[in-house]
Amino acid sequence: MAPDRNPQPSAPGETTLMPYWERVASRYAASDPLAAVCYPAAPRWFNRFYAHFQLRTVERMLGGLPLAGTRALDVGCGGGRWTRWLAERGAEAIGVDPTTAMLETARRLSPGLTFQRMSATTIDFPADTFDLVMAVTVIQHLRPVEQERAAAAMCRVVRQGGHLFVFDLIDQHDPGRVVFPRRPQEWIDLYQRQGMTLVRWEGQEYVPLMRALTALLPSQTGKAAESNVTAPSVLERIGARRAAFASLWPVIQLSYPLESLCERLLPAARARHGCFLFRKADGAPRPPHA
Ligand SMILES: C[S@@+](CC[C@H](N)C(=O)[O-])C[C@H]1O[C@@H](n2cnc3c(N)ncnc32)[C@H](O)[C@@H]1O
Repeated sequence: MAPDRNPQPSAPGETTLMPYWERVASRYAASDPLAAVCYPAAPRWFNRFYAHFQLRTVERMLGGLPLAGTRALDVGCGGGRWTRWLAERGAEAIGVDPTTAMLETARRLSPGLTFQRMSATTIDFPADTFDLVMAVTVIQHLRPVEQERAAAAMCRVVRQGGHLFVFDLIDQHDPGRVVFPRRPQEWIDLYQRQGMTLVRWEGQEYVPLMRALTALLPSQTGKAAESNVTAPSVLERIGARRAAFASLWPVIQLSYPLESLCERLLPAARARHGCFLFRKADGAPRPPHA
């Protein structure tokens, strides 16, 4: 019998793709923190495009919340860009992530902020601790059963009247090997089962030109769970040949104005990600398994 390269995680809090993140973070986080959390091996100008539109969405979705003086938790914080964003707005922000090399980068780039090693599936804070819990492109990288555990763990630590913000893949045609997308209503149901009420959601990242190109790649959605999770992705292999990415430079330059247009004109469900803001009702009963 062939050896099982990805034994199912057994320790509490362990999730299937943790070895993938350890490899990516040790390879990229110190030298290029955005590459570690966006597209590993891609040039900086490529990842800056995606980060630019992610920031715009986070500002639109969370900019209206009174963050100063609140307690905020950034789950799967990576290099800490959102923990710093929260702290810059006056929140008492804590970042958690299970990946050691991500935490090292987050601590180096964020003097004075607190980061702890923790999985989204076993959040070790008392219930009802935080005014805001957020996770940007984190839960999409957990297997469906792990997503259920993470949803319960994150909702448990939101205080009544507090908010949860999650930003995850809704594109069912994404060819990525390490993603487990859900349809918008499925993400909403996941958190509503944990006693959260949807405030609003937005689509994020339409990138029609890039999607037309990636449609040419073989779909590997979620395949990492059943193959070698630490093997380099297709994009990493392409990235090893810089010339391949150079040909995408004009595509990305054209994508800046096009993306702004798509944000205004296209329905949210046509985007790659859904960004969901929930509120925990005052006096909400605790879900039985939280
Ligand atoms: C795509 S990156 C996003 C990082 C950060 N949220 C950002 O937007 O810059 C995904 C992050 O999830 C972290 N991660 C992996 N498994 C996790 C788990 N079980 N619980 C919490 N975070 C996890 C990875 O280490 C990585 O930092």
